[in-house]
Formats: sequence, structure tokens, C-alpha cells
Amino acid sequence: MKHFHFRENELYCEDTPVAEIAQEFGTPLYLYSRQQLVDNFRSIDGAFAGVDHTTCYALKANSNHELLKILVAEGAGADAVSAGEIHLALKAGFAPSTITFAGVGKQDAEIEFALKHDIFAFNVESTEELAVIDAIAGRMGRKARIALRVNPDIDASTHPYISTGLKSNKFGIDIAVAAEVFTYAHSLPNLHVDGIHTHIGSQILKLDPFVQTAQKVVKLVADLRASGINIQHIDFGGGYGVTYKNAVKHPLLPSEETTAADEAPMNGEFIGAVLPILRSAGCKIVIEPGRSIVANTGILVTKVLYRKDNGVKKFVIVDAGMNDLIRPSLYQAYHQIVPLTLKEGERESVDVVGPVCETGDFFARERTLPYVHRGDMLAILTAGAYGFSFTSHYNARPALAEVLVNGDKVRVIREREKIEDIK
Ligand SMILES: Cc1ncc(COP(=O)(O)O)c(C=O)c1O
Repeated sequence: MKHFHFRENELYCEDTPVAEIAQEFGTPLYLYSRQQLVDNFRSIDGAFAGVDHTTCYALKANSNHELLKILVAEGAGADAVSAGEIHLALKAGFAPSTITFAGVGKQDAEIEFALKHDIFAFNVESTEELAVIDAIAGRMGRKARIALRVNPDIDASTHPYISTGLKSNKFGIDIAVAAEVFTYAHSLPNLHVDGIHTHIGSQILKLDPFVQTAQKVVKLVADLRASGINIQHIDFGGGYGVTYKNAVKHPLLPSEETTAADEAPMNGEFIGAVLPILRSAGCKIVIEPGRSIVANTGILVTKVLYRKDNGVKKFVIVDAGMNDLIRPSLYQAYHQIVPLTLKEGERESVDVVGPVCETGDFFARERTLPYVHRGDMLAILTAGAYGFSFTSHYNARPALAEVLVNGDKVRVIREREKIEDIK
């Protein structure tokens, strides 16, 4: 996260001290770096130089309108998982011909909405869904372009809740029977079978699962072509992992023990590893990265409300809660936490917890941090993906604000909700 860094002992986003932003806009607060977003997109998309492709940003990672507009200007397409996300993508200016629609549970009204807007492709997840899309398209006098999502049964070695490419997961069609299902899809009058889709999980740090998946997909393309089904595009999904530990370094910050397995390959390396394999199929390539584009673009800034020592543990209670960033509670996910201003002094082991009435409301457990006091500000790093998009009003807490930094300019890109906005 090059664009979040310490100058002397102050955390900066680009050219702006984060503490100044927190003073002006209040906490808790999501804060994003425009340049980091652009750099991330370019490092992924640029790895395809000379290849027919679309980088369809996965909106589920973060669908803030202003961030989406930046990605539109960079030439991104959009990967949506609901009619709501298609709506947000269209509103931000993504061309319908660059929008894909995934998800195991598409409702009839959502299918109609996507057909009406003539999106690039439905990524279909079951035989029954094929029949439903065919019937709705027929009723509307349209032809639906589809890709079948195949489940390659590959262990992506990620958290079980974000693993999607195993036979035991609900996603996609078992690759062992995929040819049969493609033949069925091909027989349906209102479908145009255009592609193969796969997405094996999220926060994947190894290249090998992607390489194995690419090999299986390319073989399937060849088999299908031999049986007369001419696959035009491969949608290889997203899932490229990011580095959460020691994302920002400074001599006054404790550094977390890591192994090589905690380090994410560079963005372009994921593509570099699979591109030669995928290219051999001679198809257009679509990818759907989310996290690798926005995770290190954003931080969650929060204020220390209280300290508490119950004799067993020390707690630092902050003003952000699990409703603002659920990843630690949901996946025991690690986020580095740093004070906005570093001082020489004691360190201690603490639980950093929020105000929500759940024991699961924590950001870190038994974490060594510099000693902090009431009123100090902390940044929870690498929080741009699956952060705001996963927020809730639990405990009737108003949604927090989002701000965007561009050099030394800062602007609000989502207003903080007020108590009166809570319905
Ligand atoms: C179908 C699909 N595509 C793309 C993504 C984005 O994944 P990531 O944010 O890990 O790149 C997801 C997320 O789970 C997904 O389910």
C-alpha cells in the first residue's frame, strides 16, 4: 500500500496527513487513495497487454459510486452479483457490454433486468438456472449470452467461507459433468453459449491453484469445440490475494511474524502465471478481480474511546464496530492496526474491540500495539475490500462516511448517516 506511508511519525495518505482528515471528517471513517486504486487496476489490466480481454471489477468488494467512476475511466468492466449491482454499475457508467452477472440464486426479476440491459453475459451456476433464463429470454423475445460456471474441484487453500472451487461448495457445475450441461445449454433456443466461467475463491495467495484451474478450463474448451460448441470467452474470475500483515512498516511499529505463505504475489504475477495457458485456447479473456483492486486502497480510521483492564485481558475500545468492518469477526481475518501518530514508548498486548453488543465484535485479539490512550486515532489497514460493502446497521449504528484522497485534496464520497437517518 505504497500510497499509505509514514512521513516521520505521521501516517499519510498520498500527500495528506490522515490525522488531519480524521479531525475534519470525524470517525469512524473509510478513507481511500485514488492513486492506489488506479495503480492497482493498471498493474492487473496492464498484464494483458496485446490480449483481447476485459478486467471486470467485482463490485461486491466495494461499490462506492465515485470509486466505480474512476475504474470506468480506467477502462474497467463490471462483475455484478445482483440486479442492484448491475444498477450501480450502469449508474457509474460501465458499458452494458462489459457487465457480467454471477450468483447461484438469480431471481426472475433480476434476470429480466439483466436481459433488458443487454449485459455481456450471465455466468450460470446450475442446470435449472439455464432453463429459467431460457424461458425468460424467450418470453422477452431476447437471446441471453451465457457462460457456464464450472467448479474445477481445486483447493485454493483459503478460508473455508471464501473457498468456492471445491465440489463441496455451492458454486458452479462439477467440471466432470460440465460437457453434458454445455450440450443441454446449447440445445436451448434462447441462449447463446459463449463462455466458460470459473472462480475458485478469494484471498488466494498461491499461484498453483490458478494454474491447475487454467489447465482444466483450457482442456474443456478444446473438448467442447470438438463436440461443436465454439467457446468464445473464458471468464477466469477473481480471487487474487493481498498482503495483510506488515502492510506498512516503521521502526516504531511492532512487526508481525510472517512466512512466505502470508505474502501475496504482485498483482500482475497472478495473470502472468496463467496467461500463457489461457491464451492457448484462443478465446477472449475476462477476469473479475475485486480485493486485489481495492483492498489496499482503503483504511478504516477509528478513535480510541476507552481502555479497560479486567485483570485477565487489556481492551482498547474503539468507535468502529463489526458492523463497519466485519472481516475479523466473520473470517478471523487479520488487519494490521497502526496509530496515526507514532511515539517512542511502551508496547502492550491488547484486544482491539468495538462498541457492538457481541463478543465477536473485535478487530484484533492479543495484538502487540504501541500503548494508546483515550482520544488517540488508529488506522485499520487494507480495509478497502469487503469493508464498507459489508456494513450493516446492527445496533442501529449509522453508516460511516467515506472520503477520497487525491494528492493533497480530500473529498467526501459518501456522507456519514445521521441518527435521524436510521429507520
Ligand atoms: C464470482 C466472483 N467473481 C469475482 C469475485 C471477486 O473475488 P476477489 O475479490 O477475491 O478478487 C468473487 C468474490 O467472491 C466472486 O464470487
